[in-house]
Amino acid sequence: MKITILVDNRIARPELRAEHGLALWIESEGKRILFDTGQGGALGKNAKILGVDLGKTDIIVLSHGHYDHSGGMAQVMKRAKKVELYCHPGVIQPRYSISDGIATPVHMPQPSLVALDRLPPTHIHWLQQPLMLSAQIGLSGPIPRKTSYEDSGGPFYLDLQGKRPDPLSDDLALWMQTGSGLVVCVGCSHAGLVNTLNHVRRLNNGQKIRAVIGGFHLRNASSDRLAQTIAALRQLEPDMVVPCHCSGELAVAELRNALGERISMGAAGMIYQF
Ligand SMILES: [Fe+2]
Ligand SMILES: [Fe+2]
Repeated sequence: MKITILVDNRIARPELRAEHGLALWIESEGKRILFDTGQGGALGKNAKILGVDLGKTDIIVLSHGHYDHSGGMAQVMKRAKKVELYCHPGVIQPRYSISDGIATPVHMPQPSLVALDRLPPTHIHWLQQPLMLSAQIGLSGPIPRKTSYEDSGGPFYLDLQGKRPDPLSDDLALWMQTGSGLVVCVGCSHAGLVNTLNHVRRLNNGQKIRAVIGGFHLRNASSDRLAQTIAALRQLEPDMVVPCHCSGELAVAELRNALGERISMGAAGMIYQF
């Protein structure tokens, strides 16, 4: 199985475009899966440079509805006529990030909503529980929030006034089984990285986590959350941890201090083979 980072906040090659967002191209068991789509600006250009034909996308999985993960949907759906979409129904709801009293929309952009609306209903799979996409690839469905120290990671609300906190219930992860453990892909880990990894292990009879790749959203993490996350990762002992996107540079530096070589920061253009 092969994972290519198509969109990320960082780039591995100067000709690629960086963007605050995430998109992973997964090739496994004859399927081509696009896990998140970035904001839309970098996806097409980077895919072309990296030799990825988005027209051949079989499946789009949305980790959650935020604009920096769902913004490229329209351009993919225009080219991949038979694409199937897997996501939680919450991805389409209006949502905002509110700081200093100013609400910024962070929901799915209009062109993506229109594209989703035009998909044949049989091609949309609304997920409210775990689901296997194939023999070895699974989706977590909603992730139970069990740890005391993890939260959604930001000032997220479902209304402009900031009265209804957004629990990011739509947040989900994808996993793949390999001979030597689970490879887990996350979008922003709004459910918490540790909650996510524990949930995926529970769904797979406690199998070992071989690798985790994606956004960890630890930018605003308290020192307590960071310390407890590091302690949990030490116990889980993944061979490889690839923080991308919204993980936060300071947090990644702390992770590297604590866990050393197994932490290697991701960037658009990087390819991982398992
Ligand atoms: Fe994000
Ligand atoms: Fe997000």
